[in-house]
Amino acid sequence: MIKFVCAKDYDEMSRKAANVISAQMVMKANSVLGLATGSTPIGTYACLVERYEKGDLDFSKITSVNLDEYKGLTHDNDQSYYYFMNDNLFSKVNIDLNNTYVPDGTIEDSAEACAKYDEIVRATGGVDLQLLGLGHNGHIGFNEPAEVFPKGTHCVTLAQSTIDANARFFASKEEVPTQAYTMGIQTIMNAKKILMVVSGADKADIVAKAFFGDVTPNVPASILQLHQDVTIVGDEAAFSKIKDMI
Ligand code: F6R
Repeated sequence: MIKFVCAKDYDEMSRKAANVISAQMVMKANSVLGLATGSTPIGTYACLVERYEKGDLDFSKITSVNLDEYKGLTHDNDQSYYYFMNDNLFSKVNIDLNNTYVPDGTIEDSAEACAKYDEIVRATGGVDLQLLGLGHNGHIGFNEPAEVFPKGTHCVTLAQSTIDANARFFASKEEVPTQAYTMGIQTIMNAKKILMVVSGADKADIVAKAFFGDVTPNVPASILQLHQDVTIVGDEAAFSKIKDMI
């Protein structure tokens, strides 16, 4: 079941998403959080840091598993998702870095990197709350439109539209890695709860297609229609095409 929570703008979306994560952390101090990168959750992480600084949140028993990582980028590359997580959250709260996991983009052998990450996720005992963003083509994690829904962690060749969208973070389009390791759809669907954040008019079409269209691997996020506990927090612009249906 999908619950839509509408916020007036990006800041309110970030606060409301942080409310959901905070509630999870308060109810279960040793939660396993599935985390995402990208531009949309940055405000959510900033809210969580603020609440930690006020003394309202404790990350000491939290475990985190991130969705994805570019293949080939080292941890100290400021475009790696490992770096992003440290920069936006881990270095600013009292999480134990030994309990934070991001797929290891430095492992050259894809099969080894993916098997290792699946084992890490399995060993956590399962994700309690998975945070997701939404790609313009409906991707979640780096699960791009495909013929089938991929199950476990795998190596993907990024769609040109994803490379174009991510180019803004790199000095040039040529520097955007072309491959990434990502959790599979089954792993994402195994999370007990899912929280998606979406912002901006440019996401309005894909929000309508993914959540009011057919469930198809051509729109990977559409599979979330089959999950029992999904909350999508979006701003008015992102929900503009579905406002009469929610
Ligand atoms: C990042 C990720 C991606 C992004 C998606 C949206 O870990 O998994 O699926 O969530 O590309 O990115 P933004 O938020 O930058 O629009």
